[in-house]
This record gives sequence, structure tokens and C-alpha cells, in this order.
Amino acid sequence: MRRLHFETLKPVCPACRLRRREAPLELAPGAMMQDDAAWTGVLRCTAQDCAQAYPIIAGTPILVPDLPSWLSANLHLVLESEVEGTDAEAVIGAAVGPDAAFNVARQQQSTYGHDHYGDLFEPVPVGSDAEAAGSIRRLLAAVRALLKPADGPVLDIGCAVGRTTLDLAAGASAPVLGIDLNWQLLKIARRAIDQGVVSYPLRRVGNRFERRSVRASFPGANHADFWIADALALPFRSGTFRQAFAMNVLDCVADPAGLVCEMSRALSGEGELALATPFDWASHATNPSGWLESPVALESMLAGIKDALAGEGGRRLVSIAPPAEQPWHVRLHDRAAVHYTSQLLTFRCSVDPGEIAQET
Ligand SMILES: C[S@@+](CC[C@H](N)C(=O)[O-])C[C@H]1O[C@@H](n2cnc3c(N)ncnc32)[C@H](O)[C@@H]1O
Repeated sequence: MRRLHFETLKPVCPACRLRRREAPLELAPGAMMQDDAAWTGVLRCTAQDCAQAYPIIAGTPILVPDLPSWLSANLHLVLESEVEGTDAEAVIGAAVGPDAAFNVARQQQSTYGHDHYGDLFEPVPVGSDAEAAGSIRRLLAAVRALLKPADGPVLDIGCAVGRTTLDLAAGASAPVLGIDLNWQLLKIARRAIDQGVVSYPLRRVGNRFERRSVRASFPGANHADFWIADALALPFRSGTFRQAFAMNVLDCVADPAGLVCEMSRALSGEGELALATPFDWASHATNPSGWLESPVALESMLAGIKDALAGEGGRRLVSIAPPAEQPWHVRLHDRAAVHYTSQLLTFRCSVDPGEIAQET
């Protein structure tokens, strides 16, 4: 956790956020610092009736409202050491079988690793079709073209392996933060900024993967940081960010309307919000009663949260550009890929001036 991000973003307790309170977190004495970043330590809620502590593990703060649940689901992944030799990885992957958590995680790392960083291994020709690696970067570039250059902190929600966060950080003068709940994906992003190494397993076919590793430096990487945090309980005071992106995340959360409300709350007046969604709903993520199955359903959800937004300091979302569509492509293995059409939406967050005075 970079000092720049902690001191600028001033995170608040995610458990208190669920009770609609903004209780600051402090870095407990004894944190191990390395290159102006906390490598290990504890963030503690300053509200005396809470005092919840959140660990910083390998440079990553774990800022989720239900820490015990996140740790019981993820601690074994956090403690799992890296197996990076292709041969050793292949032996382990074959021994445990394709349905083992080891291989399920490798599939996710392969899919997002390739789309975010595949250009570092095979240059993507200019004007290439939607199938080439980098489809998320093209999607991000398309929405950014509709926004103003950010003049303050930027939030990248559901950043996965983090290339979009690094793209947003290139040329940034303020902190850019990528958040996700998935440790196995986020650790690829962390390694890119901590060690200047991009490394992920690329699935070839069946249960056969090939380890891809390369040294890489990213302009503006010192403005990027990666935290474990929940998009539905953002650990930030209202009005912290100038821009918030949720690229292909809306259909992955339990409460899509809650995501948009949280993003809006985290934005300052005139802050900008960008969403991309392929409407790829799954019942393990979102109860089918909450599925928005068309752009029209999405619009009526946005209309329906007007009152909730007004309750968040008089906030209102004003559309910046008409909704657009763009391909988004995720590779499964050498012979399979999923082609989505992702819908892009951009909004400016207008905040009642009287409420801004109260927030600052
Ligand atoms: C479909 S992936 C998109 C990843 C990336 N934005 C891209 O387009 O390549 C959705 C991401 O959102 C993350 N995610 C899902 N629910 C989340 C939540 N409540 N808070 C933060 N991240 C979440 C997932 O772990 C996953 O990395």
C-alpha cells in the first residue's frame, strides 16, 4: 500500500460503511515499510465502538466489510506460493485435475492475463480485429475518449490483473487505484508494480498451460496501487475520486444498483463515472431477480435509483454521451474464445453545491 494512496485517499472502515458511517482508518504502529509503501501491517478503524483491524498482506490492504468470510475463502490462496516453472506447474496441474482450485484459478489468470498483457508477448497489429489481445484496453480507450482528462484520484473497480489501472496511471498526476476481490488476479497486478514483472499461465488447450513471464515497466506505475476492496462497500469517504470506472463488472455483483450508487457516492462534484457491461449474468453472482437483460432495463434501473442518489449528498447522474457498444473478447484457450458486445455508458455526477460544502 503506497503512502501516496493511503494519505491522499484516506480510506475509511468498510464495516462502518455498511452502517453508513465514514470512520477513518489509521496505520497501526509496527507496519513494515518498503520504498515508501506498507508491505505488511494493520489498518485499524478509529471509531472506538468498531476498532476493526484489517491486515496488509504482501503490500495489499484487505479492506472488505466481512473480513472473516474473505479470509476463510481466500487465505489458502494468499499463502499458496508461486509455482512458476512450466514443468513443475504442469505436473501439479495434471495431478490435481482440471476442476481443482489450482486449475480454475489458472484459467482465470490465463484469460485476463492474456487480454490485459498479451501485447507484451505478441505485438498487436494496429487496427487489428476484436480477437487480438487488449480488447479491454480498447474498451477503456473508447470510454476515456468521452471523458475529460482526470485532474484528481481515479478508481478502477474490478481491475482484475490491472492493466487498465496502469493505462489510467500513465500520465496521471494523482493516485490511481485498482480494486478487486480476487487475490489470484490482483497478485499479477501487484507484481507488475512491485517487481516490474508480468507473469501468468497461458492455457494452451485442455489442462495444458504455458507460463509467460516478462520484465516490463509501465509509465506512471508509481501512481498506481492495488487493494482488495468490495465495490459494494467502497472504503472511501464520499467525494474522494474524480473518475470511477467499472469495466465489465456490473453483471458480476450481487447488487448492480448498489454498485452505481457506491460509485456515485465516491465521486466528487462533476466527477465522471464509466460503465461497460456485456449483460453476462450468472446466478452465482447476481440473483436472477436482479438481472438487467437489456439496455432498456439498465436505463430503468438508473432511473429507479434517483432517490437513493439524491440521498447521497444530492447526487444526480447526467449522461455524457449516448450509450455505445463495442466488442469485448475473452480467450479461454488456443481454440476457444467468448465474444461479447459490451455496452458503454458514461455519466457526470452532479452534486448539490450545498452538499459539497458539507462533505469537504
Ligand atoms: C468480468 S471481470 C472484468 C475484469 C476487468 N475489468 C476486465 O474487463 O478485463 C469482473 C471483475 O470484477 C471483480 N469483482 C466482482 N465482484 C466484485 C466486487 N464486489 N468488488 C470488487 N471487484 C469485484 C472480479 O473479481 C473480476 O476481476
